[in-house]
Amino acid sequence: MSLPSDRPSTWLVTGASRGLGLELVAQLLRRGDNVAATTRATDRLLLALGTDVDTSRLLPLTVDLPDEAAVTEAVGQAAEHFGALDVVVNNAGYGFLAAVEETSPAEVREMLDVQVVGVWNVLRAALPILRQQRSGHIVNVSSVLGLTAVPGWGLYCAGKFALEGISEALAAEVADFGVKVTIVEPGYFRTDFLTKDSLALPTATVDAYPSIREMTQNHLDLQGSQLGDPVKGATAIIDAVVDGEGPLRLVLGSDSHAYATAKVDALRANLDAAAESAPATDHVTV
Ligand SMILES: NC(=O)c1ccc[n+]([C@@H]2O[C@H](COP(=O)([O-])OP(=O)(O)OC[C@H]3O[C@@H](n4cnc5c(N)ncnc54)[C@H](OP(=O)(O)O)[C@@H]3O)[C@@H](O)[C@H]2O)c1
Repeated sequence: MSLPSDRPSTWLVTGASRGLGLELVAQLLRRGDNVAATTRATDRLLLALGTDVDTSRLLPLTVDLPDEAAVTEAVGQAAEHFGALDVVVNNAGYGFLAAVEETSPAEVREMLDVQVVGVWNVLRAALPILRQQRSGHIVNVSSVLGLTAVPGWGLYCAGKFALEGISEALAAEVADFGVKVTIVEPGYFRTDFLTKDSLALPTATVDAYPSIREMTQNHLDLQGSQLGDPVKGATAIIDAVVDGEGPLRLVLGSDSHAYATAKVDALRANLDAAAESAPATDHVTV
């Protein structure tokens, strides 16, 4: 079991003022757990939680995730305030829709700062605590686009593929310390993700990609009719952690499952086709 049975568990959730993060925070507080919630806007978080949720076990923290010192201080504050840290959910993220050729260096850095550097900052601050207590659970919210890539999502996929790589390596590194790692792979969920507040667009476009402009509009139009329910998504994440058997990969949504299956099938076919040719580059051993 990752979670304590003799006290409320303490969770740290990043990107908490909207969407899946907000729903996680609300459900955890209703369960009676302690929650340190990082956000860029604590007022938005508190307003969104409203008066329906008892916030006495909430520690709202304003944190700029790419700022290592700020993250270290926030994780330390959370552990000190609650006297424990059990589960860390790296949830913060945003979309970016553009052709690879259209994506500027600043846009690349900004995405990777949040999805890779930010997560890494949280991990570096939290792991010593989890390792020493020999229990804990890291939940990294990736995407089905951390498994398979589609046109227009190159930068987002770069961030999520990186997150998957970090998470797989980490899972193997910390298993012996009693720390679990789960990668969450949602399909389309009805959060703010496809609104203009969350879906970033390139500062400059190239005329050669009208299909990407069309796809961008289609995604903005999809807002409000995505298949995934964030209430059920947050519950599935909490259940996976509470069960203690959280899988390495938690696929959420039938759309995600279908895309991931197609990727695995294509990869299998690719590997099968290379079975004879791959060994040709080996040194010949006698
Ligand atoms: N919804 C989907 O269709 C979908 C599908 C696959 C994966 N995901 C992933 O699920 C996670 C949650 O997204 P969501 O669907 O809940 O979207 P959302 O409603 O837009 O919420 C995203 C959260 O991430 C934080 N965030 C956004 N941009 C940020 C930035 N530049 N720096 C730091 N934090 C930032 C925000 O935190 P604050 O504003 O509180 O700071 C916000 O609460 C993300 O990692 C996303 O990539 C979502």
